[in-house]
Amino acid sequence: MKFDIRGLAVTTDSDRAIAAINRFTQSAVSLTPGMPEITAAARIDPDCAMVQIYAAALHALSQSKIEAQNGIAYLDRARMHLAELNDRERTFIDAVAAGCEGDFDRAVGFYEQIIDRWPRDILAAKIAEFHCFETGDAERQLRIMEKMGPANVDSPHAQAMLAFALELNGHRERAEEVSLAALRQDPQCMWAQHCLAHVYGQQARIQEGIAMLEKFAPDWPRFGQYIRSHNWFHLAMLYLAQLDFARVLDAYQGHIWGFQPGEVVEHTDAILLLWYLELAGGDAGGRWREIAPHIRALTHEQVFPFLTTIYLYALERAGESAEVNRAMAQVEDYAERQTGRAAHVWKDIGVLQAQGSIAFARGDYDRAAAMLGPTLSDIACGGGSDEQRAVFAQSYFLSLARAGRKDAARQALRDYLEDRPPNPLHRRWLAEIGG
Ligand SMILES: [Fe+2]
Repeated sequence: MKFDIRGLAVTTDSDRAIAAINRFTQSAVSLTPGMPEITAAARIDPDCAMVQIYAAALHALSQSKIEAQNGIAYLDRARMHLAELNDRERTFIDAVAAGCEGDFDRAVGFYEQIIDRWPRDILAAKIAEFHCFETGDAERQLRIMEKMGPANVDSPHAQAMLAFALELNGHRERAEEVSLAALRQDPQCMWAQHCLAHVYGQQARIQEGIAMLEKFAPDWPRFGQYIRSHNWFHLAMLYLAQLDFARVLDAYQGHIWGFQPGEVVEHTDAILLLWYLELAGGDAGGRWREIAPHIRALTHEQVFPFLTTIYLYALERAGESAEVNRAMAQVEDYAERQTGRAAHVWKDIGVLQAQGSIAFARGDYDRAAAMLGPTLSDIACGGGSDEQRAVFAQSYFLSLARAGRKDAARQALRDYLEDRPPNPLHRRWLAEIGG
């Protein structure tokens, strides 16, 4: 038995395996390149169960059912040593297995068990954080991070996870405080910078947010492409709030799309930015057709409704209506076959969310409003973050406005704005729809 960098017991005699475990953990929580190296480590150290489990975890985080299935062979190898493993390692197998099966809610339950007994396990917390993004369960995310945070005051990355959970639950002043404290520990804590981007966006602190993120941006190239693109997405959203379409498209071209066009994370940032751009009155031009070949196959997977919906929307905007109809029929069939929580997520929310978004893309605004309206109060359960899910509320009030239902559109716009100070984009909508 040896111990990893968090002081957690690992069943192995190999220093090389411990080094691979530490590297995977460090890359995952700091968002620096290196996570895929665990696959080579799994070949070199087939007898270390934890290395196998982490290799499987990489697949569980892929947001693709086909990719996730490829993680199961690693778990089978880990289970060959089950009798020798400690409780944390055994629970980790169950957690990653649930993630590979696409049952993210159950996976989070196992990760929470790990945090309850071993709160220093920040990798378990990081994976739980991602699955909570897929289930949209921000309350549970905060509960886990509040248990994990106090045991990891030495880690700015752990504090940034706590900060982000606070942000997603609307506790933005505390989220900002905790993020700034993490940045005092490590000025390059990328996840803390990301959390601040959410806070600035949600609080409409546009100028301040742009100044801060532009100050951070020169350091971003040393981080993984996923978070580089994603933080640029947030910066571009602040440009969009100022109606500065030229800088939005520069960010899209220079930092967001075309780096790893096969990666789901890149699809998400690119699709959402184009969708938001068009909602603001900008022109995405031929960019939808550039994305389409890279997402066509993934549109036929049902991983979580938010992801399925944005794929269907992008493909429809690219003009591939027949493909969208086939994929939508699969979503409806999949939803019918779900039970328990998944039945609510897919049947009550996911199907309407997808149908409404497709209708919006087709300019059928009456149908879009009828479908999207009932989903908004519980749209979080389909996954995505607060800033990402706003496309549905914006598409809804614009559907009402374009369908000629001005009073309902005005009310929906007011509901969307809540008590936020309006930014230039909001003021444009208020002028168009009426405040
Ligand atoms: Fe984000």
